[in-house]
Amino acid sequence: MPVRLDRAVALVTGASSGIGAAVTRRFAAAGAQVLATGRDETRLAKLAADTGALPLVADLARPGAGQELAERALAETGRIDVVVNNAGLGWAGDFAQMPPADIDELLALNLRAPIELTRAVLPGLRRHGGHLVYVGSIAGRLGVAGEAVYAAGKAGLDIFAASLRAELAGQDIGVSVVVPGVVDTPFFARRGRPYHRARPRPVPADRVAAALTAAVVQGRCDVYVPGWLRLPVAVRGALPGIYRSMDGRFGGRS
Ligand SMILES: NC(=O)c1ccc[n+]([C@@H]2O[C@H](COP(=O)([O-])OP(=O)(O)OC[C@H]3O[C@@H](n4cnc5c(N)ncnc54)[C@H](OP(=O)(O)O)[C@@H]3O)[C@@H](O)[C@H]2O)c1
Repeated sequence: MPVRLDRAVALVTGASSGIGAAVTRRFAAAGAQVLATGRDETRLAKLAADTGALPLVADLARPGAGQELAERALAETGRIDVVVNNAGLGWAGDFAQMPPADIDELLALNLRAPIELTRAVLPGLRRHGGHLVYVGSIAGRLGVAGEAVYAAGKAGLDIFAASLRAELAGQDIGVSVVVPGVVDTPFFARRGRPYHRARPRPVPADRVAAALTAAVVQGRCDVYVPGWLRLPVAVRGALPGIYRSMDGRFGGRS
């Protein structure tokens, strides 16, 4: 269902950087009351000063952190209408070299925390309606060499959202998945390997934020940024053999 942002309380995870910061700015400009969460207190405070958002510092990789964050947010505002599950972390390299602690952290942050947070906000959403957004990745729809665990976590998030959408059908709760390709944020530096390809060219974080905001306001299910990314996904689904022959182009290391 479409949501009126000027009447909404929105919880945005990963708001201290990149896509989440851009979403916070867009939501605040549209009149929403935004609860902006992340780990970096200084960046959150600056965002809060710029936008009027309420900063909530939280490490979402810890078990139970999603539930705790929802409780803290509800204690502040009494209700949450929109949740943007955006906080995420990458890891690049050969899967066999990936330390077990990094596997745990990636799956905890990228998959378990959104599931926990969703479970904690659902009773309220069932009462008054609202919207759940999941920031996935093209890696989770296509699979990418050198990012197997990241892609698996994002694919899990994707299918969690699709299942939830089916389960909540007929209730006043929208579910959107935003599927970015390459976005110009600190994500690549943080994952340990800068983005080195010439194409596809990174898009600005605000382009993703604009598409995400439109998805909430218009009640859209699936949003690719840029839009042409739906083509390789469609080819992989309909013509898997042909897709595999082009795999280096779309699923190669980035
Ligand atoms: N950039 C891309 O090309 C791209 C492409 C597809 C999908 N995505 C997805 O888009 C989302 C946003 O990424 P971005 O590109 O904006 O990257 P980013 O600039 O690195 O932002 C990541 C955000 O996640 C937060 N975060 C990281 N670890 C956390 C933890 N343990 N607990 C709580 N928050 C944590 C960070 O908070 P602190 O800075 O405060 O630690 C930051 O706000 C991610 O889910 C990512 O997978 C990105």
